[in-house]
Amino acid sequence: MDYINTVKGTHDVINDEAIAYQEIELAFREMADIYGYGEFKTPVMEYSKLFTRSVGESSDIVRKEMYEFLDKGGRSISLRPEFTASIVRAASNAKLFNTADLPIKAFYVGPAFRYERPQAGRYRQFYQLGLEALGERSPILDAEVIAFGYKFLQLLGFKNLKLKINTLGDDESKKNYKEAIKKYFAPHLEEMCSDCKERYELNPLRILDCKVPSDIEIVKNAPSMKEYLNESSKEYYAQILDVLNELQIVFEEDDSLVRGLDYYSDVVFEYHFYDENGKSIGALGAGGHYDKLIGELSGVNLDGVGLAFGLERLYSVLLENNLLPDLTHFLDLMVMPLSENEVPFAYMVCEYARDLGYKVDISYSPKSLKSQFKKAERKHAKFALIIGEEEIKNQEIVLKNMDTQVQEKISLEDLADELDKHLLSHGHCECGCEDDECHCEDDECSCHHHRKEE
Ligand code: HAM
Repeated sequence: MDYINTVKGTHDVINDEAIAYQEIELAFREMADIYGYGEFKTPVMEYSKLFTRSVGESSDIVRKEMYEFLDKGGRSISLRPEFTASIVRAASNAKLFNTADLPIKAFYVGPAFRYERPQAGRYRQFYQLGLEALGERSPILDAEVIAFGYKFLQLLGFKNLKLKINTLGDDESKKNYKEAIKKYFAPHLEEMCSDCKERYELNPLRILDCKVPSDIEIVKNAPSMKEYLNESSKEYYAQILDVLNELQIVFEEDDSLVRGLDYYSDVVFEYHFYDENGKSIGALGAGGHYDKLIGELSGVNLDGVGLAFGLERLYSVLLENNLLPDLTHFLDLMVMPLSENEVPFAYMVCEYARDLGYKVDISYSPKSLKSQFKKAERKHAKFALIIGEEEIKNQEIVLKNMDTQVQEKISLEDLADELDKHLLSHGHCECGCEDDECHCEDDECSCHHHRKEE
């Protein structure tokens, strides 16, 4: 059989993994809402020039990793390798920089595409959860974004987080530093890798990020970025660190952190998680400040700051460290027709119970009752509902508690009440009261007593 695999570097997300993704996404959405971010949904495809102009011609993403093609009209299109550029473009197209209150706070969730060498934590299609605050230069806002990411990871249950942080300084500082390192690397360039030679011309800062061992040795002695920061850049960075300290967010300053996208200036950061053996699958999330990007894409010179997390990485670290909640999908009710003849009637009962809000499944081609019970166990069903010819005739059915094995005959007429009694009274009431005496004023309360009142 010629099985067709997923495209190299992509993966299917099925059942439990999909539920876990949903949980993580939900936590992110709720937190974004608390912090005042609204959702932006942008197309997966953009004109390629959006990314060459923003992520930058010197970045690995644009040089080697874009899924770029000509459409049937001969336009150069790319699958988004990240979201920041798209969010800025969307805000600009909607004229938000001229009409909306600043900062514009946008969050996003969706797939991004990079033609990278697939390995642990690295995919060619991966999901990002991220946010951008556009239109304001404020160290408090930068700190808020960094704190958001840190608290989000804490909310998911992460411990032993390492927040690495650095500043690239403003335009003037970056320019002075670039000149200094160009001078430093010039005599070493011949012996360095071909990527570094290219970076030297396009964006010498990126040489600091080189992973080739012999180049790392040369990079070690390069002048430090800190020495080239002007006073205002130093002051801006110090204010961000002050706020983080005040919030008791633990960080580690890392002079060599430059990040692989060209649009950054001032603060950049990455969140890392290391296992017991000190191994990391790469940053769980990362971000930084940008001072030219909005101007380049919209003509309005404003600053922005943002971050993005990789969903696959969050999931795999949570899974490996037993930090995921119990994701067992429980079924409330398994409907068991005794033979094919009862299936149509049983199916109507099944739909009725679903309309009441219960999670219900049915055997469509019933085999023996024994095999139906086995299936119900595998599906973690709480109750079984047995329907045979006799039951239909008498309008009475058998409800069996899968846990206690106690079964009782109930009248079909009372099904809704019986299900409510058995299924709603088990821990559904958030206020912890006795069901029949529930006095809570929670509109969402779904305890038996409240449901009956409705
Ligand atoms: P990035 O560091 O390129 O930044 O990506 C952010 C996160 O996406 C990474 O930390 C990682 O968790 C995940 N990620 C990146 N590439 C892959 C991959 N091939 N496979 C799996 N996960 C991956 C950005 O994309 C910036 N737009 C972040 C940002 C927002 N900066 C400012 N605003």
